[in-house]
Amino acid sequence: MKHLRSMLEELFEWLHQHPELGFEEYETTAKLRTILEREGIEVLDAKLETGLVAQITGDRPGKCVALRCDIDALPIQEQTELSYASAYPGRMHACGHDAHTAIMLGAALLLNQRRSELKGKVRIIFQPAEELPAGARVVLATGMLEDTDLFLGVHVSPELPAGTLGIKEGPIMAAVDRFAITVHGRGAHAAQPHEGVDPIVVQAAIVQGVQSIVSRALDPFAAAVVSITHVESGSTWNVIPETALMEGTVRTLEPAARKKAQEQLQSLAGSIAAAYGAQADFAWYPGPPAVINDGALCHIARNVAKNLMISATMQENTLTGEDFSCYLDNRPGLFVRVGTGCSFPLHHPRFRVDEQILYPTAQYFAQLTEYLLNKGV
Ligand code: NI
Repeated sequence: MKHLRSMLEELFEWLHQHPELGFEEYETTAKLRTILEREGIEVLDAKLETGLVAQITGDRPGKCVALRCDIDALPIQEQTELSYASAYPGRMHACGHDAHTAIMLGAALLLNQRRSELKGKVRIIFQPAEELPAGARVVLATGMLEDTDLFLGVHVSPELPAGTLGIKEGPIMAAVDRFAITVHGRGAHAAQPHEGVDPIVVQAAIVQGVQSIVSRALDPFAAAVVSITHVESGSTWNVIPETALMEGTVRTLEPAARKKAQEQLQSLAGSIAAAYGAQADFAWYPGPPAVINDGALCHIARNVAKNLMISATMQENTLTGEDFSCYLDNRPGLFVRVGTGCSFPLHHPRFRVDEQILYPTAQYFAQLTEYLLNKGV
């Protein structure tokens, strides 16, 4: 397998050049299927429109470990000068999913060579549509992952030196919830506000009022954010409108803070509106829960890194989200960051990944998986 390093770099460049948005990853899926089949790795009949689940079955019975990567790109116009820059206008792999895919495919190829040594099974999930985020739930709905014992995932991080791993236990990424509040007032002539109930004034009071949730209602040690990101009302200058809409997102690391923030948001919106004689409709759209890394897995993951002489560090928590957490409903998992070195941030049109990290990180995941299967947690 002396060519694996260059093969992974080639695959990464191809993926980078052919970015596809969530649930449209047809070319990507076909490319991965071709490679897996050529290498004799079973592709399960998951009946996914895009994305794949592959499986390597060891010679002896045992546990099932899943390696998960995401394959979708973003609607961003690339601005790098890379020779393999996106061939598609307005689409870019700006979140490193091309690197994640190459890394997990590399790990699969290495594990496939060691099949006769393996106890149990490895499932490799090439997940569509992480960015929407909806892909994890679609993959889970296939029912193909029910007997999976634990999940490993990877994400690149421009905040770490190239190749350095970020391994931290506990909650590391936020639950991502969305909310919308519609204030129903009563329209009137702009010159006769007393004849109506101005929903814009009510909305302004709600926008101010909910700022107290993080500062006054939540435990100061529970990281959380309430952001209102979209307000809309009215259509002209001399009419008081009937309604005003606002929407935004709540990000929390702890389930208790998540619940409290939702309750407080709903109750503040309702009572502020009532105080003004208006009414507020509240809608809550729960997204993926927080990513919570298993402590025992972290311990093993650090030891495997040490054995391979790969440096591992803690990485700061973030209130961005990841639908990797959807797999971890009552099952342990570990989401590892891998440094890309100096780069523009994720989702930036000039974001880039150092290809040097692909092969060692693939080796790392192969060894970690083999350890977990053969020696257990
Ligand atoms: Ni991402």
